[in-house]
Amino acid sequence: MKKQIGPGTYVFPTPTYIIGTYNEDGTADVMNLAWGGVCGFKPPCVQISLNTGRRTRENLLRTGCFTVNIGGVNLMAESDYFGLISGSKANKLETVGFTSTRSENVDAPVIDQYPLTLECRMVDSREIGPHLMVIGEIVGVVCDEDVLDDKGKPDVKKIKPLGLDPIGHNYIAFDHIVGEAYKEGRKYLNK
Ligand SMILES: Cc1cc2nc3c(=O)[nH]c(=O)nc-3n(C[C@H](O)[C@H](O)[C@H](O)COP(=O)(O)O)c2cc1C
Repeated sequence: MKKQIGPGTYVFPTPTYIIGTYNEDGTADVMNLAWGGVCGFKPPCVQISLNTGRRTRENLLRTGCFTVNIGGVNLMAESDYFGLISGSKANKLETVGFTSTRSENVDAPVIDQYPLTLECRMVDSREIGPHLMVIGEIVGVVCDEDVLDDKGKPDVKKIKPLGLDPIGHNYIAFDHIVGEAYKEGRKYLNK
């Protein structure tokens, strides 16, 4: 028996992106972001949704650039903290002892401790209620060599990226492979 439970953003898992931007004084800010995802392939694009009051939103509108830093379970406490306090009240990177390096491609920081960083330039935006959905074109990607697979691509098993269950508010680790996409369903193609 199915039941109508009312509208809501019951989508899981959502990603756990750490968005990096530069403050006006040149220091780096980071925030945890779950409302985002891939939205284009040619050119490669991601979308992120930023509520009002986020320092990140101000920074992004000023510089037009951001990074998406992706890390694993080993960075969970720091990543969570980046979502608990605004950069207008704390220097979050300094608090946790993390560092950043200026991106070669955009005016935004690459967070050194995260194994994978997408360097993005804002190409479009749209207000959705209090949120601003920003579309960023991925103009560069930096990745720690030790998390690359034998084809030179980021290896999910090595990164063990964190996802979020936005309903139970739990973090989920993505390192357990249960099947192969574009293969598991093939048995039904000729039925
Ligand atoms: C798990 C998690 C996910 C979050 N997702 C979002 C999000 O998608 N959009 C958003 O605007 N804020 C989100 N937040 C809240 C921001 O990370 C938080 O308000 C942060 O302090 C903003 O930092 P800033 O002011 O330095 O930009 C999330 C927080 C957590 C802990």
